[in-house]
Amino acid sequence: MPDTPAPELEALWLPFTHNRLFKKTPRVVVRAEGMHYYTAEGRKILDGLAGLWCSAAGHNHPRIVAAVKAQLDVLDYSPPFQTCHDKAFELAHALTAAAPAGFDHVFFTNSGSEACDTALKIALAWHRARGDGGRCRLIGREKGYHGVGFGGISVGGLAANRKAFATALLPGVDHLPHTHDLRHMAFSRGQPAWGAHLADELERLVALHDASTIAAVIVEPMQGSAGVIVPPVGYLERLREICTRHGILLIFDEVITGFGRLGTLFSPERMGVMPDLITFAKGVTSGVVPLGGVLVRKGIYDAFMTGPEHLVEFFHGYTYSGHPLACAAGLAALDVYRDEDLFARSRALEPVLEEAIHALRGEPNVIDVRNFGLAAAVELAPRPDAASKRGMEVFHWCFDHGAMVRYTGDTIAIGPPLVASPDDIEALVGTIRQALRHVP
Ligand SMILES: Cc1ncc(COP(=O)(O)O)c(C=O)c1O
Repeated sequence: MPDTPAPELEALWLPFTHNRLFKKTPRVVVRAEGMHYYTAEGRKILDGLAGLWCSAAGHNHPRIVAAVKAQLDVLDYSPPFQTCHDKAFELAHALTAAAPAGFDHVFFTNSGSEACDTALKIALAWHRARGDGGRCRLIGREKGYHGVGFGGISVGGLAANRKAFATALLPGVDHLPHTHDLRHMAFSRGQPAWGAHLADELERLVALHDASTIAAVIVEPMQGSAGVIVPPVGYLERLREICTRHGILLIFDEVITGFGRLGTLFSPERMGVMPDLITFAKGVTSGVVPLGGVLVRKGIYDAFMTGPEHLVEFFHGYTYSGHPLACAAGLAALDVYRDEDLFARSRALEPVLEEAIHALRGEPNVIDVRNFGLAAAVELAPRPDAASKRGMEVFHWCFDHGAMVRYTGDTIAIGPPLVASPDDIEALVGTIRQALRHVP
């Protein structure tokens, strides 16, 4: 292992990465196709995380790549403010047609972080537009991840993402407790039976702050970044019921759960709980071009469409909102999902993944195994002197032995592309098994 990084690696400041250690042992990919990455040395790495939960159709899908190339020949860019291009309208129409009934407007962003901040701003502005501007408090959840904007980290619940910015977090934010408690739910398959009552904590927050001050609650239907924390049976239903009773908007952050990860386009089709706003990103283009957005119900859009017609209704947007390349990729990705029936494939793979991953129970240091949709996690006991080091070493071992997984602290998470085969899943879990046996 070289002691100092190669000079050509030094300029890049990698996000969410241990830069110094990484540059001593860089793990660099140069090409990808289908289920695999390839390193500069030609090593083949099985993608166990669909990129970063985004490459749902597998890498370099020819139809998506062709659509992006074709778009480049026609229109590279057009401003999204006061003008628009055809593909943005087409994609908005296609998304609202496929989304749960009632979600008939979409606002485009470039990322999940921007989608979350946009959703929070829509919620605040919506109450104000209806003359209920006192509703300015936002409720997130412990262990929640809603990206890295100031809105997202304020409602988010991961201490590491918040502590350096503590004084700059949004005021007027409170948090629900998280639902992860191994005393009651270790080794659950699918949704844990325990924990629905934790949604009642929202009643406590309403009693504390008064409903008239609360604009919205934002949660991930399944918490992804914190390590696949699966909603207890009945939990989301209760949140919905309490929000409805108190006039609070419910935002589902579906940046990970959307586009087939739970076997459906969005979680309501799977779990039957309908939010008021849905944020999405990642899988919308299968990760090929950055794109995110917020789907809203008609009533929310309509509340903004008042006042003189020549005035801007919502002072918000991004230079690249609905970029032509992103919209072309999004349209092609939706076609691929439909034509290859990938959400059904995700549903068919779910029990395969469940069986495979739960067979890791009993391997060294495993204190929990959990799964939902085409996502799963193995939680490891932390080393007493170095939390998250075991997780990191398992991640490194897997990469060095041909499989890309993710680690969050000492939790190993996987969420393969929806085009995975049962053999891919066995191979992936087999590599994790070997890693667990090798990493002390
Ligand atoms: C639920 C959720 N929301 C928001 C984000 C942020 O998305 P991005 O990294 O595209 O800004 C993520 C990213 O993993 C996420 O999982």
